[in-house]
Amino acid sequence: MKITNEKLDIDRILYTPEQIAERVDEIARTLADRYGGERPVMACVLKGASFFYIDLCRSMRSHIEMDFIAVSSYGSKSKSSGVVRLIKDLDTDIEGKHVILVEDIIDSGLTLKYLIELFSSRKPASVTTVSFLKKTDCGKQAAQADIFGFEIPNEFVVGYGLDYAGYYRNLPYIGVLKPECYAE
Ligand code: PRP
Repeated sequence: MKITNEKLDIDRILYTPEQIAERVDEIARTLADRYGGERPVMACVLKGASFFYIDLCRSMRSHIEMDFIAVSSYGSKSKSSGVVRLIKDLDTDIEGKHVILVEDIIDSGLTLKYLIELFSSRKPASVTTVSFLKKTDCGKQAAQADIFGFEIPNEFVVGYGLDYAGYYRNLPYIGVLKPECYAE
């Protein structure tokens, strides 16, 4: 790992804070229309989705219930370990409720697949999956989000909640991390 500082490590900005805010508002409007009279459980997948989730909840102009689940499959690596670990479960009993699962990125699709199976086993009324980002080549067999913000190339992105080994989650934009930063 060769993390130094933002100026040296970020190759380029993919989405600015303004572009992000605009897209989040659009997604919030789509969800509010879809769930009009309902009060869905918005389930945030920690930690990566935290910024997107908060912005999305704040933009929703309808009733929602907020809850959090934490899973991990990357640890401090740049490639998925292939095993999803449940670190913190939802507090809410979702049986019979409408659930909106909020993710930051779909890469291999493994995390989303795991969460859809976990949630579905609890007999919710419905599960809608929302991911802020989706990799273009995330594999046809990979679980897909019902709604996503942007489709991105196969590069390592950080910021707006996404990290590399815990670094750069707090950037206000989505940026591409230079490959030399995570070269093994
Ligand atoms: C990242 C990201 C997604 C998942 C996507 O989480 O936040 O949840 O990986 O990758 P996949 O489609 O290949 O499964 P990570 O395990 O790094 O935990 P974090 O959100 O706490 O950073």
